[in-house]
Amino acid sequence: MPQKIYRDLCEAFGQVQGLLENLRQLGVHELPDPPDEACLPVCPVASSSDDGSSKPCRPESLEEIRDDLGDCRRCVLSEKRQHIVFGCGSEKARLVLVGEAPGREEDKQGVPFVGEAGRLLDRMLFAMGLRREDVYICNVQKCRPPGNRDPQADEIAACEPFLIRQLATIQPRVIVTLGRFAAQTLLRRQEAISRLRGRWHAYEGIPLMPTYHPAYLLRNPASKREVWEDLKQVMSRLRGDDS
Ligand code: URA
Repeated sequence: MPQKIYRDLCEAFGQVQGLLENLRQLGVHELPDPPDEACLPVCPVASSSDDGSSKPCRPESLEEIRDDLGDCRRCVLSEKRQHIVFGCGSEKARLVLVGEAPGREEDKQGVPFVGEAGRLLDRMLFAMGLRREDVYICNVQKCRPPGNRDPQADEIAACEPFLIRQLATIQPRVIVTLGRFAAQTLLRRQEAISRLRGRWHAYEGIPLMPTYHPAYLLRNPASKREVWEDLKQVMSRLRGDDS
């Protein structure tokens, strides 16, 4: 071992010994166990209720958020839904994809993006070298609007807090919003998706790339090239090329 490291180690060891001796003289004969993380209170979601305190806390889990959502009756969309579509994938995902709301097939199965648009989304992920289980997929709305109509303001207000909590828990490296509605909702912007897509925005400090919705691509396959350009930027960010 080089002499300098040896000297530094001896010095640090001596300091720890001195500290322990001081504690012993103060009557402290054993060190308390570190707090059990599971017993700590859940950290407030920064944007909504950061109280500025530095009290120890832990992030809530996706399971806790799902439990809190329960058999949700917070808006009228609950009346006609078959299943709540909470989200799927990894709690540790580096990439979260956010769509609008479940469609017919998603409502039937309780899983996001499992219809035709979902199969296209799977192919897009495959082209990025990713599988569903590597990412997290969810929607702004957890219940299907009848006839796939646009969600109303009160329905968004009831549901969005759960998305905000999901994103705060996962803390992904990148968020991709699929389609106009998810981009406008998360960014609080009203511009057309054609203007928002293709460049980086930020959601609570997390880089966010809006792109076209896969359902739009099914109707407008020529736009797949633009989406691929957007996804290449996402891949590069995930690789850490431009962070
Ligand atoms: N479209 C969406 O926006 N989300 C889904 O889960 C399915 C279709």
